[in-house]
Amino acid sequence: MILDYKGVPLFYSDSGKGQVIVLLHGFLEDNSMWDNITPELIKKNRVIAIDLLGHGKTGCLGYVHKMEDMAEAVSVVLKHLKLRKYIFIGHSMGGYVALAFAKLYPENIKGLCLLNSTYEADDKERKQLRARANKIVQTNYENMVRMSFANLFSAESKLKYIEAYNNALEIALQTPVQGYMAANEGMRLREDSSVFFTEATFKKAVLLGKKDTILNTEDMLLFTNRHNIETHVFSEGHMSHIENKEEVKQKIMHFIEKM
Ligand code: MLT
Repeated sequence: MILDYKGVPLFYSDSGKGQVIVLLHGFLEDNSMWDNITPELIKKNRVIAIDLLGHGKTGCLGYVHKMEDMAEAVSVVLKHLKLRKYIFIGHSMGGYVALAFAKLYPENIKGLCLLNSTYEADDKERKQLRARANKIVQTNYENMVRMSFANLFSAESKLKYIEAYNNALEIALQTPVQGYMAANEGMRLREDSSVFFTEATFKKAVLLGKKDTILNTEDMLLFTNRHNIETHVFSEGHMSHIENKEEVKQKIMHFIEKM
């Protein structure tokens, strides 16, 4: 389905019936990252998977897509569908957007699951890396995407899941340069949500990858344990929906079951 949002297309899929699960993909991904889990979810739930600004079939609105801008686009879809209460599952950047949404509309959130994602803001080094990447992509887009993409998988899974890796890379390479830069800058500017997340009263879960090179799994685990937030660490990297796909499915089903 496509809505017109401020003159650009805003894509979402809507299937199944029941409690509403909103799926938000990560940086350089699109709604198809959920294709493996959706058939299971729609047996008892209504699943809305949205292409975030500058990704998949959704257009770019500007040169910076703050997480709040992406969250506003998400809210346009959910308001259009007249939905009031939902559970968010956000992969990486999709988790940052879910948190931004939850800050804007806390009363609408039933649950929020961060998959390979964090409530933390970027540290100084990561902010610098993003600024550098945004310079390089302007002249060397394909190599930059290939390089940043290779880091997302653990070394073993890159070979083991070569087909899924190539499919995901193919999608990443279709992201327009503007979509890349606007999201990367939006992530660089995002605020820390640690306090918000710990204090929020909706149901929460954090699903991490042991070999994730983007997140600090050990530190996050200490933090979530300290705050009694349900957490699980899968064996591989940042792309758990590919590298640990059956376990991801199981954990997400478990998260939504008890609501
Ligand atoms: C993602 O997978 O969405 C991004 O790698 C997240 C990030 O760069 O922080």
